[in-house]
Amino acid sequence: MTRPTFVCQQCEFQSGKWHGRCPSCEAWGSLVEEAASPRGLPVPAQEPVPYPDIGCVDLVRTSTGLPEFDRVLGGGLVPGVVVLVGGEPGVGKSTLLLQSASALADAGKRVLYASGEESPAQLRLRGARLAVASAQLLVLAETDVDAIAAAARRCRVDVLVVDSIQAVRCGELSSVPGSVGQVRESAARLVALAKSTGLPVILVGHVTKDGSIAGPRALEHVVDTVIQFEGDRHHAHRILRALKNRFGPADEIGVFSMADAGLIGIGNPSELFLAERALGAPGSAVLAAIEGSRPLHVEVQALIGEAAYGSPRRVALGVDAGRLAMILAVLARRAGIDASGRDVFVNVAGGLTIDEPAADLAVALAAASSLSGRPLAPRMTILGEIGLAGEVRSVARVEARLREAGRLGFDSALVPSGAAPPSFAGLRVVPVRHLAEAVDAAQVA
Ligand code: TYD
Ligand code: MG
Repeated sequence: MTRPTFVCQQCEFQSGKWHGRCPSCEAWGSLVEEAASPRGLPVPAQEPVPYPDIGCVDLVRTSTGLPEFDRVLGGGLVPGVVVLVGGEPGVGKSTLLLQSASALADAGKRVLYASGEESPAQLRLRGARLAVASAQLLVLAETDVDAIAAAARRCRVDVLVVDSIQAVRCGELSSVPGSVGQVRESAARLVALAKSTGLPVILVGHVTKDGSIAGPRALEHVVDTVIQFEGDRHHAHRILRALKNRFGPADEIGVFSMADAGLIGIGNPSELFLAERALGAPGSAVLAAIEGSRPLHVEVQALIGEAAYGSPRRVALGVDAGRLAMILAVLARRAGIDASGRDVFVNVAGGLTIDEPAADLAVALAAASSLSGRPLAPRMTILGEIGLAGEVRSVARVEARLREAGRLGFDSALVPSGAAPPSFAGLRVVPVRHLAEAVDAAQVA
């Protein structure tokens, strides 16, 4: 029998015996048992080949049946790919994958949905809401990773879904399911299955807000594609975001709405995010954003008022707090619009998080508008990064943003002068070089 290996969950220190406290990083109770076999796959010896002799393989992609999921994957599942779909409990991972498995089965693929969390009866309950029917969809309530792999081989399935990786275990390890050792070893075996047979494998992984639960974080380098499913209970929309993708673009997003009969793909997310806009209200600006490859219009709201008491509050929801502080400082110093001493709240409507600097100008103008009480033109879209001197800097993919604005029926756009086309998609393009110029053009001073 091979000697067990104990690995610290904090620092990856390895030891042949268990310690209550890690001798390396001194964390208590952090050592867990892992299989003693060397990690990773045995790599067959290969001869180097001259570059021109490398054959071009066209990756055959299998559609997941959900266009928004396909988009995030880069067009669908490629043979042997291992995809990790992570997200907080309750966000809708099982719903997404059961829907996808069902659509794949309807398209004639054999799918094995291995659930370690729910019984087939529970799955059936969920499936009834989602109109799952195909006999090509096989369900297995099993937590033993080797049993799952054996079933996938035996049934010659085309796609394997494992829900979740924290629920499966490997019989040779004595540690509990969900511990780093179990998760890693189970994933390694499923990766080996995918790579040796060409079977696409989709793993579900639970992640808490701080990413602390053992598992998905430790798996990110083992799998080919890491997709995060985001959203909160209070909003219907859900965003699927590629964080890593060996077979497609990273940072692509897919947008869904969670309804009574499951997830509905949203092909035109701008319309969703602008649907309930406070037209004509001061403090509301429309930002022409880009998420992944996709232009997306969202509403940025600001509310500035007398500080209720004590030191003024600065609250940024959906935009970076440090970025907001900088924008307010530049507004004060370079455009004479001073919010100091006041409470400032900024929010991206719909619960979306925008982290690109192209949002700066929209945030600044929403703030200026709230402070002056003068609304922005309702059919104007805004894009641009702001520098510390108050200059408005160019951003990437201006034309894609403007094309989306034209499609949505906007009639004008404030655009950094360095990137502004003369006119575009029927829009009046207003080039701005400086924040003060933008404040004038938007008439919010
Ligand atoms: P679930 O897929 O179980 O989440 P996860 O696997 O990520 O833990 O979905 C959880 C929520 O989604 C649950 O609160 C109920 C809701 N839901 C709907 O709103 N509509 C539906 O059709 C389904 C199946 C679930
Ligand atoms: Mg689930």
